Parts: sequence; C-alpha cells; structure tokens
Amino acid sequence: MNLKKLVQQRFEEKFGEQPAFVIRAPGRVNLIGEHTDYNDGFVMPMAIDRAVWLAIRPREDGRVSAHSLEMDDPIDFEISNLGKPGQGWGEYVKGVTWALLEEGFELSGWEGVLTSDIPVGAGLSSSAALEMATAMAFMAISNTEWNAPQMARIGQRAENDWAGANTGIMDQMISASAAQDHALMIDCRDLSTQLVPLPPKTSIVILDTMTRHTHTGSGYNDRRNECEAAAKHFGVEFLRDLDKVTLQKNSIGLDKTLLRRAIHVVSENDRVIQAMSAMQNQDPHIMGLFMNASHDSLRDNFEVTNRDLDLMAALAQETKGCYGARMTGGGFGGCVVALVQEEQAERFATEVAADYFNVTDMQPHIYICKATGGTEVVKN
Ligand code: GLA
Repeated sequence: MNLKKLVQQRFEEKFGEQPAFVIRAPGRVNLIGEHTDYNDGFVMPMAIDRAVWLAIRPREDGRVSAHSLEMDDPIDFEISNLGKPGQGWGEYVKGVTWALLEEGFELSGWEGVLTSDIPVGAGLSSSAALEMATAMAFMAISNTEWNAPQMARIGQRAENDWAGANTGIMDQMISASAAQDHALMIDCRDLSTQLVPLPPKTSIVILDTMTRHTHTGSGYNDRRNECEAAAKHFGVEFLRDLDKVTLQKNSIGLDKTLLRRAIHVVSENDRVIQAMSAMQNQDPHIMGLFMNASHDSLRDNFEVTNRDLDLMAALAQETKGCYGARMTGGGFGGCVVALVQEEQAERFATEVAADYFNVTDMQPHIYICKATGGTEVVKN
C-alpha cells in the first residue's frame, strides 16, 4: 500500500472521519555542494521519492497530538507550554512549533497520524522532512500560504536552537521547495534557487553504507568551527567570499588543516557552478567527473568520509554504467550518491551491493530514486 493511503486509512480508523489535510514532505539527496551551505555557498540537492506523510485535522484546544506508525512514543503537547527540549522524534515537531512562535506566527492546534519511509540517520534528511511536514501542518490549518525560504529558516532554527544540531539550511530548503524531475541549485546566501534538469536517460542511485553519523556529535561542529577560523584568517565573513587566487596568495601562516578545509569549500563551490552547467548541457560525463572530484576533496581536504564511504564510492565509480559517485550529506557514515545510465541502473545496483557485501559483510540498502516536488498538501 502506498504511504498516502496508509496514513489516510490509519487516520480514519483512529478518528472515524477523513483527514482535513494529508501532507507530504520529502527527504533529499545532495548531488554536489557538500559542507558549503553553512559557508554561505552553493549546493545542488534534489528531493527524493521517500517522504514523511502526515494526515491531520484541526483541534480547538491549542494542543498538538500525533503518533507515528514507526515510532513508539506519541506526542501530545500544549502549544503555549512547550517546556524544555527533550529526546525523541517529537522534538522536531516541538522545535518547529517553538520557532514559528518565535517568528510571531499565531498557531492553532492539530492532531493526526504520520508515517515515513526515509531511513533515519542515513543522511537523507528524515528530520528536515519532519520539520517541513510540521510547518506545513500549521500553515494548512491556518490557511496560510507556504513561503518556502521562510519555512526552511524556521526548520533550521528548530534544528539549531531546539534540537541542538548546528546544521545549515540545505536540507530544509530542498524539502520545502523542490521541483519534480529537477535538482535545485541553491545559493545559501540569499536562498535564491535555480531549477536544474537531470541529464536525460540517467538515474540517481543512493547507496547506503549502513554506517551511521550524528550531527550533534563533534565532527560536524568541528568542521563548522574550522571553516569559521579559516574565514577569519583570510579576512572574509564566510569562505564563500574567498576565491582561488586569494586563497593561494594569502595562505601563509594558516594552519595546514584549516588550509585544507578552505581548499575544499572554495573548490566545491566552483564545482557546483560547473556541475550546473554540465547538467544544463545534458552532459552526464562531465557532471560525473565533478562528483568524483567532490568525493576526493571530501576525503582528502575536508576529511568527512569514512572507510566504508570511500569503499562504496570507489566500487560505484568502477562499475559499468556509472558516470560519477560521491558521498552525500554530512558524512562520517551514511550514503553515496551515483549518477548512472538509466538502463544500467538495476544491474549497477546489484553489482555494487554484492561487491560491497563481499568486502564488508554488510548488506547495503540501495535506492534508485526519482526527483520529486517539495513539501505539499496532497490533493485527494
Ligand atoms: C548535513 C546538514 C546540511 C549540510 C550537509 C553537508 O546534511 O544538515 O546542512 O551542511 O550536512 O553538506
């Protein structure tokens, strides 16, 4: 059964009527532009055909109440009495509620049922999708128009200041504003976007190493701090403002690790722009080369891969039908994304999975995905 039907049916069983709204909020995969968003730079993600589905109806008593078909602990809280951040999936719902109130929104309550097929912790933005589903629930209930950049900022604020993960804006932004069959080039400075069509006759394949990351752990925040320190050395507010020539000219005296971090960000921003041209020219070969180069830089300069990500990327790159492959998301575990010839995608997936299993004894999850639209109220 598809998830829309499932969530509708469970809602009807529980509440004895049809939901007022069914909301879909997708996860994402980033094609290129990694660890550039919090440097005010460029990213090029797409939304995937895996999503959070939320069926709701309004409540008059100022409470939000929901249960997840996958998670144990249902949520039930008063909008005007959120208390302090705690643990569990419900914190993303509370965090968005908190951030909306902080931004001056007047909120009414709702109740419902949700489900999701975005794997948690794999780097496919299950939490950003939940945040955007929550934001859309509040907007739908109060009949307020969806403002994607504004809602993305609210989701980021929930993530940073409520859930305590100091992440950038990419995940919320793509979940909030994606377009079907396209990637989106996002300028994380002003949140302007450009639609970029996927090369014809290609598939996007996500290969989950099954090793996991956490963004509240130190690695991600360390990289942010290192980027800030490097920007300070060069006298710019963000590494986005640094070009290759100035980077080379003014690198004397900079700690070698910080220099490598800066080299990654400056070169990765360039790669996003060039990858966008390759996609616009419908050239998957060139696009693939930039993806491979991105992985190399994330491994050698930014040092956010692990052994399994390096292995998976290498296996993918060597397998017939692959134009290019790289780790995607925050790193330290999670997924590799590959651009593959469409008619080779199934065979490619089987071969890489077998090769990866042979070396690691881990069975990877593989998703051949479609680029979908962003968070929406789905018509009945
Ligand atoms: C995580 C964060 C994003 C971004 C990526 C790295 O997914 O949530 O904001 O920083 O890592 O590109």
